[in-house]
Amino acid sequence: MCGITGCIIGQGNVAKILFNSLKRLEYRGYDSAGVSTIYQGKLIVKKDAGKIDEIHSRLDLLDLPGNIGIAHTRWATHGAPSQVNAHPHTDCTGSIAVVHNGVLENFMELKQELEARKHVFRSKTDTEVIPHLIEEYVKMGRGLAEAVLEACRKLRGSYAIAVIFTGEPDKIVLARNESPLVIGLAKGMNLTASDAAALIEHTNKVVFLENGDMAIVTSNGFKIIRIDTGVPVERKITELSWTLEMATKGGYPHYMLKEIFDQPNVLREALRIQERYLDLLTEFLDRGREVFLIASGTSYNACLVGSYMFSKLARLSTYPVIASEFIENYGSSIGVDTVILAVSQSGETADVLTSIDYARYRAATIIGITNVLGSTLTRIARAYVLQNAGPEIGVAATKTFTSQLMVLALLALRLARKRGKVSQYEVDEFQDELRRIPELVEKTLKISNDPVKNLAREVARFSSMFFLGRGISNATALEARLKIMELSYIPCIAYPAGESKHGPISVVEDGYPVFFIAPNDDARKHLIGNIMEMKARGAKIFCVGAEGDEEIKQLSDWYLGLPSTHPLLSPIVYVVPFQLLAYYAAIERGYDPDKPRNLAKSVTVL
Ligand code: F6R
Repeated sequence: MCGITGCIIGQGNVAKILFNSLKRLEYRGYDSAGVSTIYQGKLIVKKDAGKIDEIHSRLDLLDLPGNIGIAHTRWATHGAPSQVNAHPHTDCTGSIAVVHNGVLENFMELKQELEARKHVFRSKTDTEVIPHLIEEYVKMGRGLAEAVLEACRKLRGSYAIAVIFTGEPDKIVLARNESPLVIGLAKGMNLTASDAAALIEHTNKVVFLENGDMAIVTSNGFKIIRIDTGVPVERKITELSWTLEMATKGGYPHYMLKEIFDQPNVLREALRIQERYLDLLTEFLDRGREVFLIASGTSYNACLVGSYMFSKLARLSTYPVIASEFIENYGSSIGVDTVILAVSQSGETADVLTSIDYARYRAATIIGITNVLGSTLTRIARAYVLQNAGPEIGVAATKTFTSQLMVLALLALRLARKRGKVSQYEVDEFQDELRRIPELVEKTLKISNDPVKNLAREVARFSSMFFLGRGISNATALEARLKIMELSYIPCIAYPAGESKHGPISVVEDGYPVFFIAPNDDARKHLIGNIMEMKARGAKIFCVGAEGDEEIKQLSDWYLGLPSTHPLLSPIVYVVPFQLLAYYAAIERGYDPDKPRNLAKSVTVL
C-alpha cells in the first residue's frame, strides 16, 4: 500500500498542498517519498528514501515551483526503499512523471519488451514501466490522455496512477484498477489522492473513481472515461461530512476496524505475489531435512495454520515453534540440513531475529515471510516473500495475519505441485478455492458485523471464556483468544477441543461461555462430541460454523453460519468474526482497540 496525491491550481504553487497531503497519507507507507512539479516547461523531481520529514529536511520539498504536481509516499513491494526506487518515476525523455499505488503483475514482460525497444530503466520497481509505456504512445503522436488510456490497456494487476507531462501542463491524468483513487473539487484548484484524508483540508466535495476509470483533471474541471471502451461516464459528486481524523481512517472510527475491512483487498494483493519468490522459497522448503516455522504471537498462530497446510497438501512435516523457545528447545540439534521459515510481519521481532541469527551460525538456511521490505528479516534471510499488506497501524495484527495465511497457502500449493504427492484434482481444487478467498472474506464481513456487534455487549461482561477448535481450527481458536484477550483484557483460554477434557474442563460451570470454531471439515464429527461434553456441564455454547449446519446450530446458544471453503483455508474466513468481536468488545469496555495497554507494534526486546 502506498499513498499518491496530485494537485493542479489556477494560480500559485502546489508544493505546500502536496506536502500537506503527503503527510496525511503517510500512514499508507513511509519508507520513501517524492514530489514532481512542472515549471516553465520542465519537470522537477525531488525524491529520496526515508520518512517525509527526513526527506524534507534534506531536500526542502516546499521549494518546488509550479502550479501542477504529483507526489507519493511509498511502502515498498518491488525494489528496496531507496532514492532510485522512490516515486515519481519518469520516462527516458524526462518529460512524463508517474506515481503509482498497486502491484503490476505483468511488469517483467512489459519491461523486457520496452528494454528491447531501447528504453532505459533506472529503478527496480514495477511502476517504471508505466512512464515508458506512455512515452511510446506520446511519441506516436497521441495526446497524454489517449497515451495513458493505451498504456493502461496493457497493464495487468492493481493500480491507481497520477500522470503529468510537460507537453500538456494543464492536466493531471488519473487511472484506477483495484487501488483507491479520489478526486477532490476545490475553489480554483482540483486535487487527487488515494483517500479523502489528503483532500478534506481543502474540500469535502469528492468523486470516487471506480475500477476501470480514467480521469482528466484540470484546475477547473474533470472528465471521466472508461479505460476499456474510451466512452465518457458520469460519476456523482459526494459531499463528505467526515472530520480529518475520520478521513485518515477511511471513515472508520479506528484503524483496526479499517484494517479488518481492508482484508478482501489485502488478500487480493497477496494473490499477486511474484511467482519467482514463491518458487525460491518452495525450493528451500523442499530441500530441508527438517523445517521449522518460527514466529511470535499472531504470526506464530499463522505458522500453526501453515503446518497443517504443508502437511496435508504437500506432505511435508514442519515444526511450528514459538520464537522465544526455539533456541532452548531445538538450538543444539539444528545444522546445515535445517530450514527455518521465519514469519514476522514487522521483520523486527527480537525473539525471531535472535533465533534465526543463532540458526544462521549453525549453517541452517533461513527464509522468511514479512510485510516490511528492508526490515532486518529481509536482510538476514537467504530468500523472503513480502506479504504486500501495506502498513498495519492498529497494534493488534489483523490484515497481516490473514495475508500471512495467504502466503503460506500459496507456498503449500507450490510445494504440493512440486512434490506431486497429492492428486492433481486436489491441488487444482485448492487453487480455485484460494482465488475465491477475498470474495468469501468480503461476504463474511457482511454476514458477521451486525450479529457480532450485538454479541460484543454480552461478551464485554464475561470474566473469562474458552475458545476451542480441532485440527486446523485449533489455530483459529488460539488467534481468536489472543485478539480478544489483548484488546478487551479479559483472561481467555484456548485449547485443542479434544484436549480440553484433560484438565481445562474443570473450569466449566453453569453458564460458562465456550466458543467453538466448527467448519465443516474432518474434525467436525469429533467436535460435536466436545460440544456435548461442555453442554453437559452447563456451558453456554457459542459457535461459528458452516452456513446450513443445522445440527451444530441446534446444539448452540448462539450460532453464526459462514460461507464454506476448503478446510485448509477456513482459518482465513473463520478468524474474521473473532477480529470483529475483539474490536467491538474493546469498544464496549471503553478501551482503545488501536492501542492496547502494555503492547507495542513491534517487540524489539527479548
Ligand atoms: C497480536 C500481535 C502480536 C504480533 C507479535 C509478532 O495481535 O500483533 O502478537 O503478532 O508481536 O510480531 P511480528 O509478526 O511483527 O513478528
